[in-house]
Amino acid sequence: EPLDVLVFGSAIIDFICYAPRLPKPGETLHGHKFQTGFGGKGANQCVAAARLGSKTALIAKLGADSFGTNYMNQLRAEHINVEHVQQIPGQTTGVAQIAVSAGGENNIIIVVGANNLLSANDVASASQLFAQAKVLVCQLETPIEATLCALREFRGISILNAAPALAQLPVDLLRLPTILCVNETEAALIIGVKSIKSINEANAALKCLIELGANTVIITLGKLGAVCASKADPMAYELVPAPIVPSDLVVDTTGAGDAFIGALAHNLARYPAKELSAHILAACTVASKSVQLPGTQSSFPYD
Ligand code: RIB
Ligand code: NA
Repeated sequence: EPLDVLVFGSAIIDFICYAPRLPKPGETLHGHKFQTGFGGKGANQCVAAARLGSKTALIAKLGADSFGTNYMNQLRAEHINVEHVQQIPGQTTGVAQIAVSAGGENNIIIVVGANNLLSANDVASASQLFAQAKVLVCQLETPIEATLCALREFRGISILNAAPALAQLPVDLLRLPTILCVNETEAALIIGVKSIKSINEANAALKCLIELGANTVIITLGKLGAVCASKADPMAYELVPAPIVPSDLVVDTTGAGDAFIGALAHNLARYPAKELSAHILAACTVASKSVQLPGTQSSFPYD
């Protein structure tokens, strides 16, 4: 059985506090619930694809601590190939401190720890996986040099989720992936505008990212869905609306973007004949399910 989705990226333990609203600077706030979870954008995206039925592999670095050991076991339980997931002596597993408001909004601080050691060597040593996989997925929680190397090495369909956002993105990060996928905040930061608040502004951002060198761009717009366009015809914007989720059912949007990317990768690998808009709709549907349950991976649907 060939490998569908190869993820080269991060694995992080999430510490999630649920509170009535997000805290202001300097403020101490009473929350009402605490939960730890398995997170990190790379692992999240891999789990999302695996749960939909893709054959997956993850290339990632964990610490040689109990978080790392637990995470290894968890990835195996998700039927992910972990031959190239390593626990590094003397390193701590990446952690994320996440606050979630009653409306399901969040803010996140990550300390990536062992994730910083993912390198070009890991691309070389996993060359068999790179040769086999249909779709490669990368993010920006691990060193950029390694991500560039992974994107250069890969011959199939590659997706870069340029998250967390980075101003002054090296232009090769835009040029190399088949698909660049970002949310509206990340898109704004990359192209250097203050914000993207409408579909028109999102379409303008698509055009701008293509002018900067991207091939195909998807900008996710939360509950509105996503817009996409490609180099061949940058003016042919497409809006794919997301399924409507009543606001009282939205409990936690953390990781919804990762559910989207994992589902996108799964659909690209498994249904290569379908159009991009069909894949985006399928991905929006998976993301809209994830916002209705707490946590990241814990909220991702099974096929
Ligand atoms: O995208 C959500 C993820 O971002 C969380 O799981 C957290 O670990 C951060 O990496
Ligand atoms: Na969720």
